Amino acid sequence: MKYYVVLLSVLIERTWSTNDAPQQLKFPPWFKFGAATAAHQIEGAWNVSDKTPSVWDVFSHEKPSRIGDGSNGDVACDSYHLWREDIEMVTHLGLHFYRFSISWPRLLPSGFPDRISSAGRRYYSELIDGLLAAGVEPVVTVYHWDLPQSLQDLGGWTNPLVVDWFADYARVVFSLFADRVKTWITINEPLVFCDGAYTMGVYAPGVLSPDIGKYLCNRHALLAHAKAWRIYDQEFRDRYRGKISLANTITWYEPADGETDDVAEIVRQYGGGIFSHPIFSKKGGWPPVIAKMIAENSRRQGYPKSRLPPFTEKEIKFIRGTYDFYALNYYTSRVVRRARPGETIDAWPFFGAPELNVSLTVRPEWKKAPPSWFYINPVGIRHQIRWLKEQYGDVEVLIAENGYASHDPTAHDMDRVQFYKDHLEQVLLSIYEDGVNVTGFTAWSLMDNYEWMDGYVPKFGLFAVDFNDQRTRSPRTSASYYAAIIREHALIEPPEYLSVTQNATNTNTSYNSLILSFVLIVYFIK
Ligand SMILES: *[C@@H]1O[C@H](CO)[C@@H](O)[C@H](O)[C@H]1NC(C)=O
Ligand SMILES: *[C@@H]1O[C@H](CO)[C@@H](O)[C@H](O)[C@H]1NC(C)=O
Ligand SMILES: *[C@@H]1O[C@H](CO)[C@@H](O)[C@H](O)[C@H]1NC(C)=O
Repeated sequence: MKYYVVLLSVLIERTWSTNDAPQQLKFPPWFKFGAATAAHQIEGAWNVSDKTPSVWDVFSHEKPSRIGDGSNGDVACDSYHLWREDIEMVTHLGLHFYRFSISWPRLLPSGFPDRISSAGRRYYSELIDGLLAAGVEPVVTVYHWDLPQSLQDLGGWTNPLVVDWFADYARVVFSLFADRVKTWITINEPLVFCDGAYTMGVYAPGVLSPDIGKYLCNRHALLAHAKAWRIYDQEFRDRYRGKISLANTITWYEPADGETDDVAEIVRQYGGGIFSHPIFSKKGGWPPVIAKMIAENSRRQGYPKSRLPPFTEKEIKFIRGTYDFYALNYYTSRVVRRARPGETIDAWPFFGAPELNVSLTVRPEWKKAPPSWFYINPVGIRHQIRWLKEQYGDVEVLIAENGYASHDPTAHDMDRVQFYKDHLEQVLLSIYEDGVNVTGFTAWSLMDNYEWMDGYVPKFGLFAVDFNDQRTRSPRTSASYYAAIIREHALIEPPEYLSVTQNATNTNTSYNSLILSFVLIVYFIK
């Protein structure tokens, strides 16, 4: 028995240390690993010092039934107070970078740069310094959906002036932190905050206006991104030499059996092209196929002009080329078929289906994760990356989010381990087979957090958070697995043995098993 245990633990250590990983399982030397969070999802402290409410504070307080579990972000992971623990987790994983976002109403309580909150400024400054001191690069999202309510009261993302409001805010952020932050995301997932809010009314601010509001939001988000990029480019780049882009979440769409690819392609242009073509294509502007479709739909519906407001020539030039890399968030895939005569198309759960008059389904072989929308298709990430290259040429790609949600709070998350393994495998194929320069991977999320309208039910974390208690963070099996991948800089097999030996460990498992081997060997020799 003793022999057996010693051998087993040595074997375990071996499977973890694949220094001899085959070349195609090694990530390129410049490839970096990170994990991400967003301010409203983790910070809590919604009303401390001079912070004013964001649209999400108001949305969840006004009518708790809007949120699946009736919760809100008042405390969340309490990262406003526990940020040192966040850095410990980051260090524990061995991350190269940590992606987090800045709360606009925490930094600029009025929404405008008339006054910078000293508490807000200190919070982010200390977080950034803490990360740098730990040897971790901060990657900062300027806007991750928590618009100051004061600006929402003035129309928010549907008011053209939001472009200037955002640009002024971004300038403040750069002036405070660009000396230490070298990778920036201006805006996270305009698709989600525009469609979630205006097409479906289920995200803050919950203004249902699928025909008009959604496209105003799209247009202004693109202009706001471009303006912030140009401010960085003109006022900060020479001094600080950073990189800046926006992050898009794109569902991969493929045609249903018997459909042609062009029907899926229209949906790709709608889901990914709207926020990419204006920035990344050579011509700029809205994807032509989408502009044409919405113009036709609008005319049929009796509107005198297209509901998709056109860009002027000047605006097309202003937006075009405002990127330094492509930040891609990927979670799921769908199968597309044209609507059948008389069929009603529902916007839920996938945006834009009524405009496109298509039905979105899934393949039976795609495994389902617990959230209603979440079907797992790892090759989708590779198809999506290749599509970006085909559409926009050679551009550096950063996977800015990818991750798995369960409803299971426990530590033993082999489903998440498998998810990361399967997706990272596809990322390697993008690099070595498709020749795309994918330079980094960001796990969503560092820890369980406030998942917007689904509250605290979906668990996305490498670390579990106890929301009933002191927000204690504890690593899941996936945290050990991700740490091992980072350490080896290679894709390694998931540690099957954990299914028998796993308990909530505080240090990484490889280290544990090494100590265990050592202890057992000493014991045995004795
Ligand atoms: C902040 O909000 C909490 C509820 O989340 C409340 O209990 C507390 O009294 C508020 N503090 C202030 C200073 O308003
Ligand atoms: C959607 O397509 C179906 C089938 O061609 C058609 O019957 C229906 O009128 C279309 N609906 C809209 C809103 O265009
Ligand atoms: C990929 O991009 C990174 C970062 O810009 C760069 O260092 C690297 O040389 C590029 N690799 C290739 C193969 O283009």
